[in-house]
Amino acid sequence: MQSLLPVRRHVSLRAFNTFGIDAAADTYLHVTDLGMLEQARRDPVLSNMPRLVLGGGSNLLLTGDFPGLVLHMGLPGIAIVGRTAEAVQVRAAAGESWHALVQWTLAQGFGGLENLSLIPGSVGACPIQNIGAYGAEVGNLIDAVRYFDWNTGDIITLDRAGCAFGYRDSIFKHGLRNRAIILDVTFGLPLQWRPNLQYVELANELAHPASARVENPHPGALETPLVPQADQDRPSDEPDAAAISRAVIAIRSRKLPDPARIGNAGSFFKNPVVTGVQRDALVTDWPALVSFAQPDGSYKLAAGWLIDRCGWKGRSMGAAGVYEKQALVLINRGNASGVEILHLAQAIQADVQARFGVMLESEPVIV
Ligand code: EPU
Repeated sequence: MQSLLPVRRHVSLRAFNTFGIDAAADTYLHVTDLGMLEQARRDPVLSNMPRLVLGGGSNLLLTGDFPGLVLHMGLPGIAIVGRTAEAVQVRAAAGESWHALVQWTLAQGFGGLENLSLIPGSVGACPIQNIGAYGAEVGNLIDAVRYFDWNTGDIITLDRAGCAFGYRDSIFKHGLRNRAIILDVTFGLPLQWRPNLQYVELANELAHPASARVENPHPGALETPLVPQADQDRPSDEPDAAAISRAVIAIRSRKLPDPARIGNAGSFFKNPVVTGVQRDALVTDWPALVSFAQPDGSYKLAAGWLIDRCGWKGRSMGAAGVYEKQALVLINRGNASGVEILHLAQAIQADVQARFGVMLESEPVIV
């Protein structure tokens, strides 16, 4: 049965992880339709191997060769699947590029995903860590996630509540970990769109005319004229979704390394959440501490600031480094191994713990 699947042996994953780590998969399958998953699950050899589901490889640190089956998700397709008075529903398959989907929705005139422009990775990965940026989290726009249950072979659809979204968190990291293989995601994009400019840096970027001149690193992506549905009701001084997308692209291009040139996985750590008491004690010692009050009275601390204050920004350990412009981003300065990146991360965790009494939790999946 295995021979019917285009399974390959000893495949380098270097091009398939944005850190650019040169690790190999023992067994590799590029999954382009659901039948391939069903067949792999029924195969007595493949089904008993350790399993790694790979999307865009942008939230992954490979610390060695993978001794099992890598399922590289390439399911294609984006379509409008429903429309109500309030929202349009767009369904995208797991293998689609996240940024390409964002640009596709904008080109159709649908706002909602613009704050999440230029995030590397695939559609299938977006619900797992509930990707977020510039005041938006994808979970708030997801209507449904359909997955293949590797344990039972069933195809299950979860609604938003069923996904249990949290800050860089979802059920796919917990109860459904190693079990759910995401097939597609359905987004509910509001027809009465309003800009989300709560993130001060984004509002400033839009207010600053210089941003309009920053080159779009994805030429052609925004060529189609945009006509957001709610345009006629919008105050004329409000930016449209395309302008917000361009501003986000400009900020990200300035602050974050392009994985095509410098290997990285975005923020390597989550911003830690502490109690109000802990935060007040820290502010006494560190008046410049950057923190954000949460609705439940806790505080999110800027991990980049903590790492920066420990003097790590721009430093290196072997070929692993801390990005010069954003201390939360670890980078591959050349031929770093995953273990080198991991050792750097551990050294940073130890320093932040010693100085601030806060344990940083890594964001990428470490395999
Ligand atoms: N800061 C420093 N030094 C640094 C980095 C940051 O002092 O080296 C300070 C900044 O001055 C700022 C604060 O830390 O006051 C926050 O920095 P920034 O606005 O860059 O955001 P972040 O908290 O570091 C988060 C997300 C990013 C997302 C941005 C924008 C996490 C873990 N990271 O970063 O997401 O793009 O906000 O919304 O929540 C990712 O998850 O991979 C990612 C890039």
